[in-house]
Amino acid sequence: MIKIGLLHTTIRGDEKLIIEAARKKSIKIKLIDVREEIFNRKTYQCNFDVALQRCVSTVKGNNATHFFESIGIKVINNSSVAAICEDKFVTSLALQKANIPTPDFAMVFNSTQAVKAIKKMGGFPVVIKPPLGSWGRLLAKINDIDALEAILEHKDVLGSPQQKSFYIQQYIKKAGRDIRAFVIDGQTICAIYRDSLHWITNTARGGVTSNCPVTREIADISKKASDAVGDGILSTDIFETNDGLQINEINHTTEFKNSEKPTKTSISGAILDYCVKVVKNL
Ligand SMILES: Nc1ncnc2c1ncn2[C@@H]1O[C@H](COP(=O)(O)OP(=O)(O)O)[C@@H](O)[C@H]1O
Ligand SMILES: [Mg+2]
Repeated sequence: MIKIGLLHTTIRGDEKLIIEAARKKSIKIKLIDVREEIFNRKTYQCNFDVALQRCVSTVKGNNATHFFESIGIKVINNSSVAAICEDKFVTSLALQKANIPTPDFAMVFNSTQAVKAIKKMGGFPVVIKPPLGSWGRLLAKINDIDALEAILEHKDVLGSPQQKSFYIQQYIKKAGRDIRAFVIDGQTICAIYRDSLHWITNTARGGVTSNCPVTREIADISKKASDAVGDGILSTDIFETNDGLQINEINHTTEFKNSEKPTKTSISGAILDYCVKVVKNL
């Protein structure tokens, strides 16, 4: 019988749904709170077939992923997918390289270059975000040079070394919503709209979810995005523009607990089915 090792830190509603779906499907799950583990290759006893990485902590999740890969256990998502998706700059590079529509972007290390970069991408407004962030935190919409100077000076003087790299993205005017598509093994299984009066539409910031029919365009761009980062269990953030869809970012430890009801889709079940498929193909 297949046994999945569920790597986790805090068990969120999402992991509870996975555990419940496994019970219904009679799939064995071994819960592995990585905070309680000793990752020593010489002493570790591994008794599961595949690891599903669901840690809230990116750093702990990455360490655990590298450990299990080093002892020959497949981790979903694997470390190379994680390395691209966890960093918005690296994701943007991968998307643009693969000719997938994505907002224009640049990385700069000082405010003089920031001003030049913004001119080249068509002027204000732009969005500055931490490449390693999530939940819509620390995003800044910059409407003019005064705001730009203030934000960059704050980051430069008060920020950690990481915050001294400035990832700048063209601001895309949205009609009060964006799209989140759930993409497993390249296939979009369902999607939601995230509506918000605020330009930041994350559900963690009050965005309201509803079902978004999966159009051919959504499925096509999501498949390309999935291919560009190496496949697995992903979700794409998509903007609707007058020139068609654009991928904003790709998530590799995606939260989905608010999306099963509106889409009437068992995302947790599909995640498990994919893990089983991976084990069967080993
Ligand atoms: N360039 C942009 N133009 C317009 N809205 C944006 C832009 N970047 C981010 N947003 C809004 O902010 C939200 C969060 O940004 P995102 O890049 O997805 O970071 P996070 O990892 O925090 O979700 C997006 O879902 C979108 O609503
Ligand atoms: Mg996002």
